[in-house]
Amino acid sequence: MKLVVIFWLFLVSCHGESVRQARKFPDDFWFGAAIAAYQVEGRSNANGKGENSWDYITHNNPEYTIDFANGDIAADTYNNYKRDVEMMGELGLDAYRCSLSWSRILPQGFTNKVNEAGIAFYNKDIDEMLKYNIQTLVTLYHWDLPQPLQELGGFANPLFSEWFEDYARVAFKRLGDRVKFWITFNEPREICYEGYGADTKAPVVNATGVGTYICSKNLLIGHAKAYHAYANDFKPTQNG
Ligand SMILES: *[C@@H]1O[C@H](CO)[C@@H](O)[C@H](O)[C@H]1NC(C)=O
Repeated sequence: MKLVVIFWLFLVSCHGESVRQARKFPDDFWFGAAIAAYQVEGRSNANGKGENSWDYITHNNPEYTIDFANGDIAADTYNNYKRDVEMMGELGLDAYRCSLSWSRILPQGFTNKVNEAGIAFYNKDIDEMLKYNIQTLVTLYHWDLPQPLQELGGFANPLFSEWFEDYARVAFKRLGDRVKFWITFNEPREICYEGYGADTKAPVVNATGVGTYICSKNLLIGHAKAYHAYANDFKPTQNG
């Protein structure tokens, strides 16, 4: 590592300006950072948020994580979002990729109950980023499925794709006036291979083969439904 750094300094000092020019990022290049809701938000049961699959596993099988860690507090972004965004500004970020906690928006997973406090939190966070000219890139699903949906089989339930589309529509409708970049699933391969086909990630279904394929099928249909919901009903007005 030291050698590499020294070599780089040498190059820059020998070739000066021309090397710096050649190494310059294009003006439209975005520097960004990324997180997942469960990793940073904390307040896992605050203000109406429902339980999700990682809350469930870390509370009921704490030994599942190496150091008994859980996301109950995490970086406490739920309370510290203003300072977090200020630091992103200090870093000079152009973009921030975050995820939404499905169970903070829909505590039971379904659209029968929308948690307005959860929507309000994401509204404040997105508005804060816009103050600093930071684009919010939103991942709809990054590991934390509402536990009531998990108990119905989660990604293995053939209705999963409809639950996901319903949730995506709430997110598009309530946040899509400002969010112009949406990602459906973080790490689809890992969700199905490790969560359903093995025992290395929540929900630890461990149904190697069959579980992996059923999960993949429903995940892909969910992706397609959310994509088409956006393309047909939101993109024409929201232009994301
Ligand atoms: C998962 O399945 C494998 C192979 O059948 C088994 O060895 C392992 O103990 C299982 N893990 C759990 C947590 O049950």
